[in-house]
Amino acid sequence: MKKAKIAVIGSSSMDLVVTSAKRPSAGETVLGESFQTVPGGKGANQAVAAARLGADVYMIGCVGTDPYGEAVLTNFRENGVHTDYVEPVTDARTGTAHIILAEGDNSIVVVKGANDHVTPDYVEKLIPFFQTCDLLMIQQEIPEETVETMAQISADIGVPLLLNPAPARQIPAEVIEQAAFLTPNEHEAAVLFDGGNPEDVTKRYPGKLLITEGEKGVRYYDGATEKLIPSFSVQVVDTTGAGDTFNAAFGTAIAEKQDMEAALLFANRAASLSVTGFGAQGGMPTREEVERALRS
Ligand code: RIB
Repeated sequence: MKKAKIAVIGSSSMDLVVTSAKRPSAGETVLGESFQTVPGGKGANQAVAAARLGADVYMIGCVGTDPYGEAVLTNFRENGVHTDYVEPVTDARTGTAHIILAEGDNSIVVVKGANDHVTPDYVEKLIPFFQTCDLLMIQQEIPEETVETMAQISADIGVPLLLNPAPARQIPAEVIEQAAFLTPNEHEAAVLFDGGNPEDVTKRYPGKLLITEGEKGVRYYDGATEKLIPSFSVQVVDTTGAGDTFNAAFGTAIAEKQDMEAALLFANRAASLSVTGFGAQGGMPTREEVERALRS
């Protein structure tokens, strides 16, 4: 089978991860247990996950000319992600995400750094390349205007855009119309649709709006029926990057022309495997691992 060709437009960062038994509250200091730096950033995570799942992936992004930037580029190459369109910039540092893993969940502060250089001008230069892709994927750790520009480019050239609206912010109605798929979690959906009930808002966007509801699964409306495709239960080590794995797997399956239910089953299975390893990318499965898990 010919590989699906995907361009991921987004952030590439280094995750600085502290594990701690307790999450400090405001003004409090606690003693942590460990500290590690691992590759992350929602764009990079989705690119790496899609490559492991068998897509031909091109990352569109920016890093600083610093050791984190070098490590991010090396990581892309080791995972088979094309870096032709990852630009090292000299006037900003590589993006960082400051993560506390405590009490079974994560809290994250992102410093965008070089990811803010992924501007409308930067992506507009790549329109001829985008025309050769099966799918464009984007998230929101880069400038808002770039997300709007990519939605317009997608509409103009007829290559579908999968918009993962994370982190949460309101987006123009036009962008929602132009995106082929929108994958908020419950919190992001509440921000996007003013707290509207998920069952009502999915009806407004049949086959487009997929709300991920963690352990419950993913909700969408197929034009006739409201569907909740259940997730798989596993032993959780670290949930960081589960949403990125879901998006990458869904995008890969859709770019391969799988139908919606098959794509969501594949995405749920991949996301469930991703949480069994440490770090955003540590548990991201290969295609073979997902297919084996689906057979078992
Ligand atoms: O989605 C997980 C990612 O969000 C982490 O890797 C971190 O970089 C944050 O941006």
